[in-house]
Amino acid sequence: MRVWRGLWRAVSSGDGAAHGGRPRRRAWETSLSPLERVRRLLPPEEAAAVGRCAAAPQVPPEEEEATAPQVSLEEAGARPGPFRAGELALAEVRRKYNATLKLLCRLAAGSVLASPRGLLPHCDIIGQLPGQMLRTSAGAPLLLRRPSLEEYVLLMPRGPTIAYPKDISAILMMMDIHPGDTVLETGSGSGAMSLFLSRAVGPKGRVISYEIRDDHHNLAKKNYRHWRTAWEIGHMEEWPDNVDFILKDISTAAADMKSVTVDAIVLDMLNPQSALPVVHPSLKQGGVCAVYLANITQVIDLLDRIRTCKLPFLCETIIEVTYRNWSVLPAKIKNCKSSQMVENQENIEEPPQKEYEEIHIQDQAVLKESEYNESLSDDAETYCSVPYVARPSYWQDGHSAFLTKLRKFRPLLSSCC
Ligand SMILES: C[S@@+](CC[C@H](N)C(=O)[O-])C[C@H]1O[C@@H](n2cnc3c(N)ncnc32)[C@H](O)[C@@H]1O
Repeated sequence: MRVWRGLWRAVSSGDGAAHGGRPRRRAWETSLSPLERVRRLLPPEEAAAVGRCAAAPQVPPEEEEATAPQVSLEEAGARPGPFRAGELALAEVRRKYNATLKLLCRLAAGSVLASPRGLLPHCDIIGQLPGQMLRTSAGAPLLLRRPSLEEYVLLMPRGPTIAYPKDISAILMMMDIHPGDTVLETGSGSGAMSLFLSRAVGPKGRVISYEIRDDHHNLAKKNYRHWRTAWEIGHMEEWPDNVDFILKDISTAAADMKSVTVDAIVLDMLNPQSALPVVHPSLKQGGVCAVYLANITQVIDLLDRIRTCKLPFLCETIIEVTYRNWSVLPAKIKNCKSSQMVENQENIEEPPQKEYEEIHIQDQAVLKESEYNESLSDDAETYCSVPYVARPSYWQDGHSAFLTKLRKFRPLLSSCC
């Protein structure tokens, strides 16, 4: 810092008097600055603009912060704003064994968030900016923030198994869908995939989602509606109303398909091969049909049906999306002497039971997952330099599904000669 101040004083004082009126030029002043180099490459009018910027009074970094005009969040165009009643809030509780407990609740003035570490009235959350730590009645700190779409779909009420967000992101890429596209989905299930498709195609796009069971159809619609409502309250902008949930067996929807051309299809259902003959005429030529299947034997059945029925699909890829979670934690130094004998918290205590299941408590959903280090809040460790232990976590996500990418093609034109 002292070096910077000295340098800053030298530049701003322009001390040329001691050199016969000629400003003394230091070595670094005679070579071209990066800005000057850029300026010389630009057309004259743009170079002048760069020059004007460069001529603006310079402020050293620490003063810059102090003199910077205070811009409100709204003026800066930042996302609004404090928590409001009616939107979703996610509370994170740090737990033993480096686990984080996530609680999802819909904020209402008279309600209370019940965490295992104490109560927190919703009225204490409403009005706070997301990212705020608050204390429960038992004195435990909770981090309050808005849930991501990934967290919402993992925590929302479930009927059938959802397509997992890690797989959904790969499917979106496989289908290469854009804002404005039309996508056909079967089945709606709990609505997880529908929500991500809705976001991907945006307000000008459309998602057509078939579901054979009315309980699943209603759940998917409800989860979608709840997310839209919470989004609109929290973000003060509309989430696109672009999903048509249709209660119908896809294998009976051949007539519907005649009136629609879709950019992509995603099938997450038992026996997707039964849907292919019905849906393929509506898929644009060259479009992708992504199929989500739990077992590799199901993938074989699918490909066999395509082969035997001569359906116009080429199988491009079959993938599994695997993530490897790592644990990077400040080490505990044993006996306060030897940094050789370091172990992180997970090594010195019994590993916990796998705690990834979802639990729903009244209107609150709870997810236990990722690893954190409780000792980060420990002042001694915050301010001392400590060794770290870094290695793959004990707990890894298991297999979820195989993603098969099918490309619709047009067979060779038969030659007339
Ligand atoms: C695993 S779930 C889909 C989950 C959904 N992708 C999600 O992310 O929430 C499979 C769904 O396909 C539906 N389904 C099965 N066969 C169907 C068919 N022939 N037509 C329409 N839906 C069907 C089931 O009722 C079930 O709800």
